[in-house]
Amino acid sequence: MASTSPRSLLLLVLAVAVVVSDAQFQLSETFYDATCPQAASIVQQKVDAFVDADRGLAAALMRLHFHDCFVRVNSSLPERTDNFTQLVARFARVGLDARDMIILSGGHSIGQVHCGAFFERLYNFQGLNITDPSMDPEFAAMLKVQCPQTTPFGFMALDATNGTFDSAYYLDLLTNKGLLESDVALLSDPLGVEYAIKAVQDPMAFLDEFGWAMIKMGAIPALEPYGWRKHCAFVEPKY
Ligand code: HEM
Ligand SMILES: *[C@@H]1O[C@H](CO)[C@@H](O)[C@H](O)[C@H]1NC(C)=O
Ligand SMILES: *[C@@H]1O[C@H](CO)[C@@H](O)[C@H](O)[C@H]1NC(C)=O
Ligand SMILES: *[C@@H]1O[C@H](CO)[C@@H](O)[C@H](O)[C@H]1NC(C)=O
Ligand SMILES: *[C@@H]1O[C@H](CO)[C@@H](O)[C@H](O)[C@H]1NC(C)=O
Repeated sequence: MASTSPRSLLLLVLAVAVVVSDAQFQLSETFYDATCPQAASIVQQKVDAFVDADRGLAAALMRLHFHDCFVRVNSSLPERTDNFTQLVARFARVGLDARDMIILSGGHSIGQVHCGAFFERLYNFQGLNITDPSMDPEFAAMLKVQCPQTTPFGFMALDATNGTFDSAYYLDLLTNKGLLESDVALLSDPLGVEYAIKAVQDPMAFLDEFGWAMIKMGAIPALEPYGWRKHCAFVEPKY
């Protein structure tokens, strides 16, 4: 299966974090050209060093970028319990279509998730005190060992190959090993099924499309001047 190291993925994230656009409050690729021409390479070196020391940072930074892009336009973030229709609607609010949503969900190819984020699927599906019957039974049994009902404080990898950016996430979905309801929801629509199969059959094409979708997400315009934040999911009040 084709793969990309967390480092090259991170470079991609950094590359798309600054985009050019005509809109008034847009980020600018040339912002530091006069005051600090080496800014990009300094950031790149530092991030490389941090990711070498802790590879999990690649996933954390990518998620941060996703949240940042959505928060720019006063849209709420997608929720882990969203169904396909709701996911499409949330992405539409920031100008991304269903296809973008399906491909960007492939960001869950790296990183990890709290047991609590899929706890109901293991122990109390739809309030019925059962395991989600759509989940592969062996996979569910393995998750229950890692995430016991009494102490569900651990982490699980978001796909079978946590450390590698590849299309294993979509293979997991197709074999009933998705973790979040929002992941599983992708296959409730024919378009999601189509793209998942395509990603598994042609991993290189998926990586390419993911890159383009990241650039599109990075270009989401800001409605207001682009200020700093204490918490990445909330815009600070103006003073
Ligand atoms: C489609 C809607 C999405 C939902 C509902 C969603 C939800 C979540 C949730 C609940 C977690 C686990 C948080 C935790 O337990 O700590 C997570 C992790 C993550 N998400 Fe998403 N996400 C979505 C889309 C995306 C997109 C578009 C990207 C990037 C392109 C992304 C990248 C990540 C990454 C990399 C992690 C792992 C973070 C880490 O290991 O530190 N997600 N997401
Ligand atoms: C996922 O991968 C990262 C980076 O390699 C690692 O730090 C983390 O412990 C892994 N998480 C799980 C649950 O395997
Ligand atoms: C953000 O959206 C909410 C509801 O959609 C609205 O009440 C609020 O005024 C908006 N805030 C800004 C700054 O546009
Ligand atoms: C998705 O969830 C919304 C809100 O709960 C609901 O109205 C809608 O019927 C659901 N759609 C599907 C396809 O399940
Ligand atoms: C839920 O199911 C478990 C195992 O099947 C059982 O031991 C428990 O009593 C059930 N709880 C409720 C509230 O029905």
